[in-house]
Amino acid sequence: MNITTETWTKLHDLAVEAMRTAYCPYSGYPVGAAGIAEDGTYYSGCNIENAGYGVGLCAECGLVSAFVRGGGHRLVAVACVNGNSEPVVPCGRCRQVLYEHGGPDMLLAMPAGIMPMSDVLPYGFGQNDLEDVATSTFKPAEAAANTEEGGRDE
Ligand code: THU
Repeated sequence: MNITTETWTKLHDLAVEAMRTAYCPYSGYPVGAAGIAEDGTYYSGCNIENAGYGVGLCAECGLVSAFVRGGGHRLVAVACVNGNSEPVVPCGRCRQVLYEHGGPDMLLAMPAGIMPMSDVLPYGFGQNDLEDVATSTFKPAEAAANTEEGGRDE
């Protein structure tokens, strides 16, 4: 899919709209994220913090949740903005979350310009890495059964 200037503008505008709904009473740092799927459908999300600081959700998590719930198959392009409506880099965890649904070719509007995910998360861990383990000779279930209690090997 060709991501036109109009599409990037729409993604930016949707991300700003989402950012304005952020729930971030603890950090005061609102974030909005918007993405377009391969069928042209747009999705967005905002960060949602929590009194249990560690369980706060990033804007990209909201975006991916809406995308999967909406039946999207592949994220093609994503834009994230901060409270100044400027592009913001996704945190490390969110790079991984986005990689699952966009792969290395997904495009991201970064502060430095538009970049493919392969530049934002080089050597990303994906489904193919799990398939490689299917050929592993080590079987965790057998190892557990071979210990005295049949449980964890201390
Ligand atoms: N945040 C996001 O929503 N996405 C990111 O990729 C970076 C950080 C949020 C988490 C937290 O609510 C606030 O920004 C400050 O870290």
